[in-house]
Formats: sequence, structure tokens, C-alpha cells
Amino acid sequence: MSLSVRPIVGRRAKISALGTYVPPQVLTNKDLEKMVDTNDQWIVERTGIKERHVLAAGKGVSDICVEAAKKCLAARGIEPSEVEVIIVGTVTPDMMFPSTACLVQDKIGAKGAWGFDVSAGCSGFVFALQAGVKLVESGAQSKVLVCGADANTRMTDYTDRATCVLFGDGGGAVLIEPAEEGEIGMIDFVHEIDGSGGVSLNLPAGGSLNPPTHETIDKKMHFIHQDGQAVYKFAVRKMAEATTKLLERNGVTGADLGCFIPHQANKRIITSTADRLGMPADRVIINIEKYGNTSAGTIPLAMETAVEEGKLKKGDLVLIAAVGAGFTVGTALLRWEI
Ligand SMILES: CC(C)(COP(=O)(O)OP(=O)(O)OC[C@H]1O[C@@H](n2cnc3c(N)ncnc32)[C@H](O)[C@@H]1OP(=O)(O)O)[C@@H](O)C(=O)NCCC(=O)NCCS
Repeated sequence: MSLSVRPIVGRRAKISALGTYVPPQVLTNKDLEKMVDTNDQWIVERTGIKERHVLAAGKGVSDICVEAAKKCLAARGIEPSEVEVIIVGTVTPDMMFPSTACLVQDKIGAKGAWGFDVSAGCSGFVFALQAGVKLVESGAQSKVLVCGADANTRMTDYTDRATCVLFGDGGGAVLIEPAEEGEIGMIDFVHEIDGSGGVSLNLPAGGSLNPPTHETIDKKMHFIHQDGQAVYKFAVRKMAEATTKLLERNGVTGADLGCFIPHQANKRIITSTADRLGMPADRVIINIEKYGNTSAGTIPLAMETAVEEGKLKKGDLVLIAAVGAGFTVGTALLRWEI
């Protein structure tokens, strides 16, 4: 036998390109007033949301990923055939299988890539990002496309006013590559899962436990079920706890950050976390008014907003953080190198 054990190598990884996509159709608070007993003032005051985007019939979440991926690869100037891995964070895949990663691989023509999906609710992008980063840091891969996207309106019960006002469709993609000389890129992360929170936010039917039947349809088990207050309390506590731990162990404070890019579930959750971190409001990225909660899509969409608003520039220290169904908690500290 001539087994030659490959040495474990380590190198820095960075986000080298970003692309995002939201479908063109918009659902405003005024539109929702006609569908359910709600009003614009309640939605804006309690959540910060004014409108959200809705994916057209006949499209799936893979189509959001494809549009975002094309923009991302064009921004970097590389061909889809150069992508080595595709990782998709989503809880609204086109179908149970094949994975959305497979569908995206085929649609963009990423011949030669492998990949998989990550199911982590609203932390899906942050978890997928970390998986991609570790593949690059290990030396195993050098071009990983990480998508975070959800088509939440497909799973939304438009008779449940406490839930239907929150969600929208959209997402984004980033490319992970080795950092160049002098660059820092990805620094550290704190992730957690707490399955005891599954009862507070779930989509009960359609899987192996409750396969689709007339009964599951009649009981609306194919829609998002949420105990809003339980999720809210967990999110407020965990966003602050995990981000504080991450910053402390890396010797930085909110004042050192170029910007804070949080998951966009509720404006009040974001401002409460930002206050705990001592972040000035102008360095906290909020675009929830335009998109609502796009689950795994919010962080790449907020990265795009940060760039557009001139709040995210090369060399900036950036904190990202999300809490989602599971429960899941995903946070990362990085230096922006684009
Ligand atoms: C859902 C959420 C916005 C509800 O806000 P809230 O301040 O907790 O509101 P409550 O549930 O206490 O409801 C307050 C009142 O508003 C009413 N209400 C709920 N939704 C309403 C709506 N869309 N329009 C008008 N009134 C509404 C409730 O029925 C309740 O009325 P009552 O006092 O007569 O019973 C909030 O709990 C939340 O954002 N939770 C976290 C959601 C989340 O982050 N999910 C994704 C996880 S990543």
C-alpha cells in the first residue's frame, strides 16, 4: 500500500463577490389590508415592514439563486464552469429533492461543481457561508458559491395576520475564495442550534412525519406556523448574546465595526441588538421596509444595501448575525475585501 496522507493546510478565506435578486412583483401593506384584518400603521410600528417581493407562479427559489449567482459571478468576472462548490441555504427549496444546489448547478451550467443545501431557517445563509469558508480555508476548494434565498410567500397563510405580514421572497449569493496577501477576510463565527425551539416556528407537513394528505391541507399544515412572541424573545436574547461573545473573544467592540448586518425579521429586534452592542444607528443596516423577512436571503440583501448606501467598503470590519427556525443562531465577524 502506498497511502500518502495529505497534510492539513490552513489559509484565510474571503468573500470575493456579491450578487442579489428580488422578484419584481411587490406586495404592499395596503395590498395586505385588502386580504386580511390588518393595517399599514400596525405593520410599520410593530415590524418596520412596508412592502415585500413575491416570486411569480411557475418559478422556484432556485430561480432566485440563479439570478443572484449570475450577478455574483459576473461581478467577479468568472465563468460558472469555474465554480467548484455550490451551497444553498434555504428552507423553501423547489422540492424535497433534488437539492436546490443541484438545480442551480444545472441552470447556471456549473459543470464540475458539487454541492448541497443547508436547512437552518433564517440562519441558513450564515451557516452555509461558514461551510463554504471552511472548505476554502482547508485548502480543499478555492471557489465556493454560497447562496441564501427563500420564497417564503409560498409557505405563508394569508389568513394568519400575525404571520403573513412578515415574509417576502428574495436572496443573494457570494463567492468564497482564498484571501490575497495582506487581506484578512473571514475572522470568526459563533453558531448554535436549540431544537427545543422547533415548536415555536415550523412548517409541520410535507416531510416524512406528516406526508401530504387532504387532512394536512385542510389543517393548513403546509404553511409557516409561528408563536411570534416566543420567537421574538429568543431572537432578542440570542442576537445580543452570540454577537457579544463573538466580539469579546476577538477583542473588538461595536465601536470598532464598520457596520452591523443583521437578519431582517423585525426592526425592533435589530435596534435592540444594536443598542446592546453600542452601535450607532447609521452603521446598522436595515432594509426590512423594502423586503420584509426573506429568511436566508436577508443578509446578502442587506450586504447589497450596505454597499449601495456607501456603508460597506473594502477593509471594513463587519458583523453579521441571524436567528431562525430550529432555533438556529448564526453570527460571523469578517473584514470586507471587495
Ligand atoms: C409577529 C410579531 C410582529 C407580533 O408582534 P407583537 O408585538 O408580539 O404582537 P402580539 O403578537 O403581542 O399582538 C398584539 C396585538 O396585535 C394583533 N395583531 C397581530 N398581528 C396583527 C396584524 N398583522 N395587524 C393588526 N393587528 C395584529 C394581535 O392579534 C394582538 O391583538 P390583541 O392584543 O387584541 O390580542 C412579533 O412577535 C415578531 O416579530 N416576532 C418574531 C417573528 C420573527 O422574527 N420571525 C422569524 C424568525 S427568523
